[in-house]
Amino acid sequence: MDYRAYTIDKITEITGLDRAAIAAVVEIPPEQKLGDLAFPCFILAKTLRKAPPVIAKELAEKLSEDENIEKAEAVGGYLNFFYNRSGFTKNVVTEVLEKGGDYGKSDMGNGKTVLVEYSSPNIAKPFHIGHLFSTAVGNSLERIYKQLGYKTVKLNHLGDWGTQFGKLICAYKMWGDDAVIEKDPINELLKIYVRFHEEAEKRPELEDEAREYFKLLEEGDADATALWQHFRDLSLVEFKRVYDMLGVSFDSYAGESFYSDKMPEVVEILKEKNLLEESNGAQVVDLSELNVPPCIILKSDGATIYATRDIAAALYRHRTYDFHKNIYVVGTPQALHFKQIFAVMKKAGWDWADDCVHVGFGLVKFPDKKLSTRHGDVVFLEDVLNESIQKTLDIITENSPEMENKEEVAKKIGIGAILYAFLKNSREKDIVFSWDSMLDFEGESAPYVQYSYARGRSILRRADEAIGDVDFSLITSDEEYALVSQINAFGDAVKDAAEKNEPFYVNRYVTNLARQFNKFYNSCPILKEDIEPDVRKARLALVSASCEVIKSALGLLGIETVESM
Ligand code: ARG
Repeated sequence: MDYRAYTIDKITEITGLDRAAIAAVVEIPPEQKLGDLAFPCFILAKTLRKAPPVIAKELAEKLSEDENIEKAEAVGGYLNFFYNRSGFTKNVVTEVLEKGGDYGKSDMGNGKTVLVEYSSPNIAKPFHIGHLFSTAVGNSLERIYKQLGYKTVKLNHLGDWGTQFGKLICAYKMWGDDAVIEKDPINELLKIYVRFHEEAEKRPELEDEAREYFKLLEEGDADATALWQHFRDLSLVEFKRVYDMLGVSFDSYAGESFYSDKMPEVVEILKEKNLLEESNGAQVVDLSELNVPPCIILKSDGATIYATRDIAAALYRHRTYDFHKNIYVVGTPQALHFKQIFAVMKKAGWDWADDCVHVGFGLVKFPDKKLSTRHGDVVFLEDVLNESIQKTLDIITENSPEMENKEEVAKKIGIGAILYAFLKNSREKDIVFSWDSMLDFEGESAPYVQYSYARGRSILRRADEAIGDVDFSLITSDEEYALVSQINAFGDAVKDAAEKNEPFYVNRYVTNLARQFNKFYNSCPILKEDIEPDVRKARLALVSASCEVIKSALGLLGIETVESM
């Protein structure tokens, strides 16, 4: 049963207002002692010509006895509804135990496809911390949309095309050493790429050479293509190692190169629609009506660029997937780029441009600079992940030296801690990277939530009994009820997260759920000898439901659980 819907029906009955209008204003009170759902009577003040507190009082009196609503109380201008605790608890807990991992799923997205593009690192360059931010947010968003019934497609728009590959080939021809590259590909390719830039300052003719190589590449020259392919393959092996560690995967790695032969059509379309104009030899689309700089489509030397490839990619995605939404999880510094390309698409008459969304995120700051230095100044993601796992392992070894599967546990917690840190706040906020808070087992962290789950699982293991029929009227204390209410809020948190493309709603949700669970655990003994068997059974059902939902919610963040820690 849906208590919210039921209560809204009741309010409709006693006020005679439009149901949708009521649904739009009811809210969850800030404190449990104010009830489960509140109806602000202000919207009636005008028509009834009465003060809201008076209206609230009158409505409270109108509400007759009800098996699902315990009482309705007028407080100020609000009418606060209190659900029947044992009925509500029975409803929620039974549903969770029945549905298991499917609890909280919805079918609102049925028949619709959402594309989530995320990570998108550049080949032959390190996978940096900004790409990790994108990976964490995108991975979570994709899971959130899937939870809501959307068909999702995970896209990795690899940065694998552009003039820089002419430079890289040129550098490789001069200094490439296969044996060294094979050993540490990205680092070595980066080194020769950096060296190219240093050298080109002294010998500008190298730039021409590099341009020549890129031209060869664009023309499909066999030698240049083979080298490019080799760099791409080597990079992908490294990226995939990181994705495996993170538990992340993609449906498509169609990167910028994939669209290189799909650009002429875009240029043609823009030409046909009279959108292209010349500016300093380049072909651009004017966007002055939006107060943004023109979008360059063709450079003066005829070469296409990042923006052109993105427009071709969007058109391809529209044709291939007929998307409901096409989401780009890319750092906020690229906001202007997306504004420009979406505007060009709109000018081309593509209405679906409105369904393209740039989901930006902030910067990552490293205050303590105590990160691994194997790679010099650049922060290599793999090093960060390994460091997190190692630090977690140290903590576990100290706390529980006899634990058996320490390495495996440390991996899940160490990786979880990092993902959590990226999903903790609104994504546009900058992140201060701090091991102390990330690995604080008592703070706002993945380990804290994971620990709550493990604690619950350990109770269930120790009790070792089938739950069967439960008398839910035995678990209606404030702590128990607050926990049930929090469990019930799962679906809303997921919807909020999708609506705003903000995984932190789910993160905050699961953190609060863990908090509520720990409060319950501390005030409601379960396995103590003097606890009535029926009470124990009911509490065990609540523990089991809590674990189920903590696991699902963490799963939406891409964070795994461990059975003990
Ligand atoms: N490879 C780019 C970078 O590292 C990100 C690509 C973003 N996606 C896109 N469709 N432009 O900055």
